[in-house]
Amino acid sequence: MEFKTSIETFDLNLFYGDFQALKNISMKIPDKNITAIIGPSGCGKSTLLRCFNRMNDLVEGTRLEGRLVIYNDKRLGNVLANDIDLIALRKKVGMVFQRPNVFNLSIYENLRFGLCIHQMLSKKDEILAEIQNSLEHVGLWNDLKDKLGKNARSLTLEQQQRLCIARVLILKPEIILLDEPCSALDPMATLKIEELLRILRKEYSLVIVTHNMQQAARVSDYTGFLYIGELVEFGETTQVFTNPKEKLTENRSILLWQENASENT
Ligand SMILES: Nc1ncnc2c1ncn2[C@@H]1O[C@H](COP(=O)(O)OP(=O)(O)O)[C@@H](O)[C@H]1O
Ligand SMILES: [Mg+2]
Repeated sequence: MEFKTSIETFDLNLFYGDFQALKNISMKIPDKNITAIIGPSGCGKSTLLRCFNRMNDLVEGTRLEGRLVIYNDKRLGNVLANDIDLIALRKKVGMVFQRPNVFNLSIYENLRFGLCIHQMLSKKDEILAEIQNSLEHVGLWNDLKDKLGKNARSLTLEQQQRLCIARVLILKPEIILLDEPCSALDPMATLKIEELLRILRKEYSLVIVTHNMQQAARVSDYTGFLYIGELVEFGETTQVFTNPKEKLTENRSILLWQENASENT
C-alpha cells in the first residue's frame, strides 16, 4: 500500500465532554484518491471527518488530543494547533454535507458567496469565469448557464448537491470531505454523484463517509473501517472487502451488508 499522503493523524483522541468518540486513530489519507470511512451508525465517522477541517470546534465541550498534519502546506503545520488559521484550513479542506445545504439565494450568489468571503476575486468577468468553471466541473453549466439568477432551492436535489460541490470547488481546495453526500438522493442520482466523484478524484483528495457498504465498494480506492471509535481496518478497498485482515471487519461487514440489504428492499 504505497501512496502519497494528503492527511495523516497520529494517535487522535476526541472527547465530547467525558465521552470518548475517537480512540487513538493513526491513519494516512492518500492524495488524489477516494477514501471511504465506513462503519455502523454512531461509530464516529462524522466525528473523524470533521477533525480534518476542525469542524468539531463548533461543538461546545469538545477536546482533541494527538496530531493531525496536512501535507503540501507547511504553513498549516499541525492542524490541531491553537493558532492555526481556520479560514485558510476550511478553504483548503472543503466539506459537503448529507442534505444539500444551498443558500436561499440565486445559483450565482451561492457560488459568489465563498469568493467574497475569501476575498478571492472582485471583477465581475473574473467571477463569472470562475462560476462557469466550477459549474462545468460538476456537469451543471449546460443546464444552468441561462438560469444563474434562479433560486438554488428550485433545483432538483441532485443538482443542489452538485451545486454544493461546485461551491467547494470554486475555492480551489485540495481536499474534499463528504459526509453521506447521497443519503438524500434517489438511486439514479446517487450513481450520478458517484460518477462525478470518480472524475474529481483525478484532481482532489476525497474522503467520503458512508454507512452504505456497496457505495464504498463502488466508489472508493481505500477504505477505513471504524468500530466504536476505533479504526479497526484500513487498506485498499478491494482488500478490505474481499480479504479483511481483521476478523471484526469480516463479521461486522456481514452484519452491515444485511442491514443495507434490508434497508434497500
Ligand atoms: N455533539 C455531540 N455531543 C456528544 N456526543 C456526540 C456529539 N456528536 C456525536 N456524538 C456521539 O459520538 C459518537 C459518534 O458520533 P458520529 O461521529 O456522529 O457517528 P457516525 O457518523 O458514525 O454515525 C456517537 O456515540 C454520538 O452519539
Ligand atoms: Mg454521521
